[in-house]
Amino acid sequence: MKKNLSNIKKSKYYLDKNECVAIPTETVYGLAANAYSNKATSKIFKLKKRPKNNPLIVHYPNLKILKKDCVLNKNFFKLYKKFCPGPITFVLKIKKNSKISKNVTNKKNTLAVRFPNHKITIQLLKKINYPLAAPSANISTKISSVSPEDVKDEFGKKLKFILNGGRSKIGIESTIINLTSKPEILRLGGMQIKELNKVLGLNLKYNKNLKKTSYPGQAKLHYSPDIPIRLNVKNSKRGEAFILIKKRKKIDKNFFYITKNKNLKEAGRNLYKTLRKIKKKKYSSIAVEKIPNKSLGLAINDRLKRASNK
Ligand code: TXA
Ligand code: MG
Repeated sequence: MKKNLSNIKKSKYYLDKNECVAIPTETVYGLAANAYSNKATSKIFKLKKRPKNNPLIVHYPNLKILKKDCVLNKNFFKLYKKFCPGPITFVLKIKKNSKISKNVTNKKNTLAVRFPNHKITIQLLKKINYPLAAPSANISTKISSVSPEDVKDEFGKKLKFILNGGRSKIGIESTIINLTSKPEILRLGGMQIKELNKVLGLNLKYNKNLKKTSYPGQAKLHYSPDIPIRLNVKNSKRGEAFILIKKRKKIDKNFFYITKNKNLKEAGRNLYKTLRKIKKKKYSSIAVEKIPNKSLGLAINDRLKRASNK
């Protein structure tokens, strides 16, 4: 490869060669590969140690290319117009003649698609002539990456290239909505359900008991720092890392603020970074102050519950 290529060109160089490249998005970093290539997408599963039956989200720059792969419907257009690019993933019916690799879909007739809101990644997507399959850039079940350093922590030298796009602005994965029949929320995330309901004229709710078991990504233990987590804690025990959302008078080296004034957006942005920091400091347990179950707090609590396997 020639030296002095721009980072976007470098990414294209590796992707064209069926290699994986980490890409920035506004939610979390993705581990990307050519979604049309069996060879490239199989490398994603290997690097992440991801079960083969867990399908991938495919990232597109615009509708033109998506139309080749998926059947689009009214609800999709409504949400697309209002929220894309943005932190929302649509599950749609895949077209029979789509070139998407069978590795991506787990041989099902649906495809999860998304339009990431990140300038550099949009530029990259426009330069290549295939969409990018990209799960979150972390080892399967571990904490997602929100910066190039996190991605390096996860994969080290095994990954050819990380496209640096700074820190992810939202810091929590996209909200997933199934639009193949009656709309259904499959995962809480960066886009709030009440915003979706306004546009759809519906009253969707997230039902965590829904039949999502066929997708291991919705498995209970996930986003895990491998340290026991206690939720809704008023006061931490000695030696425990304590995640807080409101400034306390007391100063304690075990306090980790994800926001100091209950700003839930800020809390979401800092959540994974803080879990990673606590893990690096080798704490053996984590306590978390009660986080309001509203707006982004819903997604934050969902992730914390899964990380604690409760
Ligand atoms: O914000 C995000 O969505 C990030 C960035 C990189 O785009 N991606 C992400 O991908 O979180 P991943 O693979 O870590 O999570 C995708 C989830 C998994 O739980 C998977 O099982 C589910 O989406 N999924 C993928 N394809 C699906 C489909 N066709 N139907 C239902 N669920 C699907
Ligand atoms: Mg993930």
